[in-house]
Amino acid sequence: MSSICVLGNFVADNSFYANKLPMKGQTLFGTGHQVGPGGKGSNQAIAASRLGSKVYFLGKIGDDANGKMALNLYKKNKIETKTVVVSKKYPTGVAGIMINTSDGTNAIIVYPGASMEITKEEVDSFSKYITDSKIFLTQLEIKTDVTLYSLKIAKNANCTTILNPAPAIKISDEFFKHIDFFTPNETEAEFYFGKKIVSYDDAKLAGNFFLKKGVKNSIITLGEKGIYFSNKNENFSLPALNIKGKVVDTTGAGDAFSGALASALDKKLNLKDSLQFAIKVSGKSTMKKGAADAMPFLKDLT
Ligand code: RIB
Repeated sequence: MSSICVLGNFVADNSFYANKLPMKGQTLFGTGHQVGPGGKGSNQAIAASRLGSKVYFLGKIGDDANGKMALNLYKKNKIETKTVVVSKKYPTGVAGIMINTSDGTNAIIVYPGASMEITKEEVDSFSKYITDSKIFLTQLEIKTDVTLYSLKIAKNANCTTILNPAPAIKISDEFFKHIDFFTPNETEAEFYFGKKIVSYDDAKLAGNFFLKKGVKNSIITLGEKGIYFSNKNENFSLPALNIKGKVVDTTGAGDAFSGALASALDKKLNLKDSLQFAIKVSGKSTMKKGAADAMPFLKDLT
């Protein structure tokens, strides 16, 4: 069985729900609160595993109650924990998330804690799990030098690499040469491209810009406008899932997309089918509260 190795972070999400997001200096009463598993890398690993792929999660957590939440999550979701480092020194990361219940949009602050402390040496000690995997999936929520180092290990071993460039932070041009699939949302694409992405035409220009930088396939996720795909042979848009009025929480929707894309490629679906599959999974994930907890299983897709 082929497999997916996901390098990234786990954090415990503290989610606050209210009928609007507070403005600077404003205090609002919320309508709900929950604590649950999050972190972009971990969410992506859960998404891929729930879709039937064999997943290794490479990341660092603390030796504390939130770290236990992570280990329980992986056990329940059949994710290999051989590659999870437990730190005695650093606490497990946490995130504060505010969700607007009227449209499911959010604002997030992440304190990465232990996840930011994973080292190249630790990656080296688990490199077999990267090189033996068919797909290597990662994001930008740990140190960028460790991410680039790991992408190089994966590329040298002929893995298919996916970088979800979230959160958008400065990366060197060297990164782009090691990316088979680049999956920014419109805000992240704007950050790297330097211009606003409002229309499909803007997404096409941004996609071509990423290809020139060395990315093999660019997929810009555009929320309710769907996605825009570009590679050297073709450019096209695909619509989002029609879930108007059913969106309750968009936290982790991008993670659902990248995790599902990895799973679809792992299962050798063709390109268009892989994209359609990832769009469906991402849309479904917004119909439930939470991040990892909202990732659909294969049976939920029918
Ligand atoms: O992409 C959503 C995730 O971003 C949340 O789960 C939060 O933890 C942040 O890392």
